[in-house]
Amino acid sequence: MKAIEQYQNTINEFIAANKFSKFPQELYELLDYIMALGGKRMRPVMVLMACDLMNGKMEDAVHAAMAIETFHNFTLIHDDIMDNAPVRRGKTTVHEKWNVNTAILSGDVMLIEAYALLMKYENDLLRSILNIFNKSAIEVCEGQQIDMNFESRVDVSLSEYIHMITLKTAVVLGASLEVGALIAGVSKKQAQHLYEFGKNMGIAFQLRDDYLDLYADPEKFGKQVGGDVIANKKTFMLIKALELADGNDAIELNKWLQVSEFNPIEKVSAIKNIFDKLAIPALLNEEVKHYANLAWQAFEQVDATASNKEMMADFMNGLLAREV
Ligand code: IPE
Ligand code: IPE
Ligand code: MG
Ligand code: MG
Ligand code: MG
Repeated sequence: MKAIEQYQNTINEFIAANKFSKFPQELYELLDYIMALGGKRMRPVMVLMACDLMNGKMEDAVHAAMAIETFHNFTLIHDDIMDNAPVRRGKTTVHEKWNVNTAILSGDVMLIEAYALLMKYENDLLRSILNIFNKSAIEVCEGQQIDMNFESRVDVSLSEYIHMITLKTAVVLGASLEVGALIAGVSKKQAQHLYEFGKNMGIAFQLRDDYLDLYADPEKFGKQVGGDVIANKKTFMLIKALELADGNDAIELNKWLQVSEFNPIEKVSAIKNIFDKLAIPALLNEEVKHYANLAWQAFEQVDATASNKEMMADFMNGLLAREV
């Protein structure tokens, strides 16, 4: 297997060599903008790594990797509209830099471009990939709707939250590994173990994403810090705080969830203080560990060489510890 940077380079080179720049410019220029902004490229790296891990040819997986990264970037454009987010990857979000209508339409084109990339594959392999891709893409939409539904509820349970983040985020990480493994020609069973590995890592990843949304270093994060609190997102942290807070903390927490006119800085800092007081970050770490453990259990079932597995494990440990 290769160093992570080599997988990332493969993706970045493909993006640089396959610009969308077409007519009409208004539709396509923001596709190139968002794709070139980078990000961690972890989903396409996972596709390539899974293919390598299972002794496939990495080159065979590049189009599938790009399809997933293109799909991911489409979901980010639309997610930023839904979340009213001003910053993505350290730059102005697409809908704010251009406008909402073009952001919607460009997102639509990106989804179709993702399917176009899958045309590289044939027959049974294409059908298997499409099956996974379609299922995951629908689940992402379901998860995103549930995420929005939760904004106006105060009684969201932990299991409802885990279900929601599984749909909106985790399944795509599972699918990335599964698709890479299928391209390498592994059995359905082996591909399924990789899916479970990726999915549980994905749950841990979104838990950490929610943590970083409030606790990240604003200089490095590349997204608005506190956006989830401002939008009353039902994250693990808020759900736990609602469960544990009593007395004045409970009154204050509920007050912030109900006010419609507020100073965002004041709200974010008040809620963060309550989370700190209740030691919510430590509880979140325990939850991350729980899902990482489930992931490692699934990974144990994967038949690959010890050295290959070690490289995959290093990559995943890096993701779990991420700061951005
Ligand atoms: C952001 O994904 C959306 C989530 C599922 C949390 P990433 O954190 O992978 O974003 P980029 O691609 O690295 O920017
Ligand atoms: C987004 O979750 C998941 C998808 C894009 C499908 P978030 O809304 O938490 O992602 P960020 O934090 O904006 O990247
Ligand atoms: Mg968002
Ligand atoms: Mg969102
Ligand atoms: Mg987030």
